Amino acid sequence: MSPRDLLQALDQPALDAIHRRSLLTTQQWSDADLATVRSLARTLAAFDRAGLSTALCPAELAWAVFFDQSTRTKSAWGGAAARLGMHPVIVEGSSTQVSHGETAVETGAMLGMNAHAMGIRHDLILGEGNTFIRDVTRGIDEYLDATDDPRSVPVVNLQCDVDHPTQTMADLMWLEEMFGDLAEKKIAVSWAYSPSYAKPLSVPQGLVTLLTRFGAQVTLAHPPGYQLIDDCLDDARSNASNGGSFRVVDDMDEAFRDADIVYPKSWGAYDLMLERVAANAAGDTAELAEIEKRALARNAKHTDWICDEDKMSLTAAGEALYLHCLPADIGSEVSPGVMDRYKVDVARQANYKVYAIMALLAGAKVPNLKPRLTEMAGEASR
Ligand code: CP
Repeated sequence: MSPRDLLQALDQPALDAIHRRSLLTTQQWSDADLATVRSLARTLAAFDRAGLSTALCPAELAWAVFFDQSTRTKSAWGGAAARLGMHPVIVEGSSTQVSHGETAVETGAMLGMNAHAMGIRHDLILGEGNTFIRDVTRGIDEYLDATDDPRSVPVVNLQCDVDHPTQTMADLMWLEEMFGDLAEKKIAVSWAYSPSYAKPLSVPQGLVTLLTRFGAQVTLAHPPGYQLIDDCLDDARSNASNGGSFRVVDDMDEAFRDADIVYPKSWGAYDLMLERVAANAAGDTAELAEIEKRALARNAKHTDWICDEDKMSLTAAGEALYLHCLPADIGSEVSPGVMDRYKVDVARQANYKVYAIMALLAGAKVPNLKPRLTEMAGEASR
């Protein structure tokens, strides 16, 4: 569809419903509001590809802090902010005064003062990341309220311990491009072997909570001991009661059998991820390194959990769509042959994140967005 057709289909009252909103988890947003974000993201993507300006927020600061490494999400944040005319600034968490004990609420107050939007990645320690993001959001809002400052400074979760909502929204948009409707599609979200590091739980948690909302038949597979947090499993079960299904198995083959879509990726063993909490709170880096060693030794008991040609042959017609949030451990999570076959697909999947973030920022920041975009499209054609 052309940018103008997509623009025409946007609904201003629906856009009003996402104005001034922060995204901390997809579970807190209604189906309708998530649909609005995706429609807006597709419109902004079409504008971008047609070379139409989307500089809706000039001279505004889009500040992001990362307490973990990132390639895709950092560049998507920077790319989204730049396309909106904002000035992106991305800092490492260890370079902020949080590392000297400044609280999340205090940090939020300072950022509310100085920035116009904020992204946060805080994904490594169970029980901490989402709480940190909530507290920053509270600090921002309390500062703005106390000073009668009418601005809104939306916060975007760029991956926490619970969810990775810009990732799963990008994944969903890619799946909708490929399949249209997800109803009755069989989706395998599976653990896969990784020798590199104990990865966060938030991608599979975000996937099972989001994809179960659209009538899909979602199977989560992992070896014993790699369970996800209870709240996300409960949300997935409850979301699936709306026409989809959700089950948990301990066999990768079972999850892959007849699947239309497979999303195999690694995450850390649950008990060891919990052990990290106390070691991190005590600042015990030697203990954290020891836990990481045990996590990798635990992973190494399951090297057969790899998405290779044998596993893919179990899927529907042997042709399931392979997804990965990236980076993938090639040779461990996925065979080189499978990754080579799907390398353009996973890049297209990843490309949706910049537009998902643009939609969240533009939707939250810009009132009367549809007329503004219409005006911008009109200016371009004059
Ligand atoms: N998938 C994802 O979030 O990638 P990065 O860790 O590189 O941001």
